[in-house]
Amino acid sequence: MTSSSAWTNPKPAISLPSKHNTKTNYLTCSLQSPSILHFPKQSFTTTTTTPTTTNVVPKPKHKTPKTTTTTTTIKESKNLNPKSVPTLTPTVAQPPQWNVFQKAASMALDAFETALVNSERQHPLPKTADPSVQIAGNYGPVPEQPVCHNLPVTGTIPDCIQGVYVRNGANPLFEPTAGHHLFDGDGMVHAVRISNGSANYACRFTETKRLVQERSLGRPVFPKAIGELHGHTGIARLALFYARGLCGLVDHTQGTGVANAGLVYFNGRLLAMSEDDLPYQVRINPSSGDLETVGRYDFQDGTKSPDVEIPLAEPTMMHDFAITEQFVVIPDQQVVFKLNEMLRGGSPVVYDKNKTARFGVLPKCAVDATEINWVEVPECFCFHLWNAWEEPETNEIVVIGSCMTPPDSIFNECDEGLKSILSEIRLNLTTGVSTRRPILSDQLNLEAGMVNQKRLGRKTCYSYHAIAEPWPKVSGIAKVDLSTGDVEKFIYGEGRYGGEPYFVPNPTLEAEDGGYILAFMHDEKNSKSELLIINSINMQLEASVKLPSRVPYGFHGTFIKSEDLEKQT
Ligand SMILES: [Fe+2]
Repeated sequence: MTSSSAWTNPKPAISLPSKHNTKTNYLTCSLQSPSILHFPKQSFTTTTTTPTTTNVVPKPKHKTPKTTTTTTTIKESKNLNPKSVPTLTPTVAQPPQWNVFQKAASMALDAFETALVNSERQHPLPKTADPSVQIAGNYGPVPEQPVCHNLPVTGTIPDCIQGVYVRNGANPLFEPTAGHHLFDGDGMVHAVRISNGSANYACRFTETKRLVQERSLGRPVFPKAIGELHGHTGIARLALFYARGLCGLVDHTQGTGVANAGLVYFNGRLLAMSEDDLPYQVRINPSSGDLETVGRYDFQDGTKSPDVEIPLAEPTMMHDFAITEQFVVIPDQQVVFKLNEMLRGGSPVVYDKNKTARFGVLPKCAVDATEINWVEVPECFCFHLWNAWEEPETNEIVVIGSCMTPPDSIFNECDEGLKSILSEIRLNLTTGVSTRRPILSDQLNLEAGMVNQKRLGRKTCYSYHAIAEPWPKVSGIAKVDLSTGDVEKFIYGEGRYGGEPYFVPNPTLEAEDGGYILAFMHDEKNSKSELLIINSINMQLEASVKLPSRVPYGFHGTFIKSEDLEKQT
């Protein structure tokens, strides 16, 4: 079945019913609730244009380097065995200039932290917080890499690939002193600039407020949201952070995020994002492909429509959402934040068995949450949603996502093997009932992926995914026919693993799958990394670019065409 008929339907006749779900909502709003690290309702009135130090942390005598200067030396381990962690030796900037009270407070709080760390080391860490597990091997950090030009290319880079492929990832600047989860690392963007068949590469830290302050202090002081904030020591770490803030030793008012998860090119800006903060704008040099952090971006330039606050009964972990032509699809699932779990010694990120997962369907032009229609999808947890579309014939919203079980296994250690099942979820807006089915007939963990972004929000035939086998490593790429469940695979080969595949359409081809898949691949046998370019019609390798340094396994990326790059803000 082709999807051309759905694409050409200009006015889907989805009808919104009167509300089926009248479940009482409360005043807590997940989208606006503060993260664990944030003081409530921060002011977002300042738009920064260059990386700066804050009013509270004294500015170093020499200017904090922009991303054009490397200040960090990370000694690469030659033998990246599964238990090895690269040694990090950040160059310490000028020490901050504190008054007598601040110096005394700093010493007292440092002593408290030392005692805390010594106490933590008496107990074994769970795998989800053990840095020797979380950032072992090619999950470990790398130093910044200035632009390397004219990289070796095997095969021929297709003419239509003109632009820059960028991918985000977690890359801790400092060696962890206690618990650390992969997601806690500082954001680093890897960029491959492709022009007329030749390729350049660079990678740079995103200069978050957090990174700049920690580099200035010469050590980590911001709590790690997943690796450190559990149990009583997590509460102590929060107290320590707040105390440092109150004494003016750190500034938590300008965000605490690491900007390590996603990358989108929005309205002429490349934005590096994580769930716990505003995005950071990163500028790409159109010629060289080098990267420079512009600053924290607050959308206060008129590009954002008014916020719609969505009331939820409890703060909920939401990593992703989907759009159709007319609607936004918002998952409200069973992984929630319960701070009181910390008092009981556990993680504040928990699976709430008593909650029923549901998806909200909200018109894009809604002015408030009263227009949302909730449809329950019991026992469903999708970390990612790959696409969604409207089917007027049945008055359904179709959502394509990967359903993960156990739902909180990324955050909390569990013995049960993790499964991520590519699924079709149907939300019937007439009956208020959902159905869910696996798309593949055989179990295969399919994660980080996408559809042809030109068709996003409309019915698609294909999606492209990382084959997350053996979890969490990615041994290849799957092209999935969403209607039949047929899968075509590109397997990297023994000892070679990758991450998210990114589909770049070929503008000369009409077919939905006419294009190329870009993906970083790392050979663990020789510790070499490459960018692969795969023909998405036949899933055969077209070209590979040998990269000058190791690219760690990371998260999401995007591709910016040369003509779009020229219009960068
Ligand atoms: Fe993600």
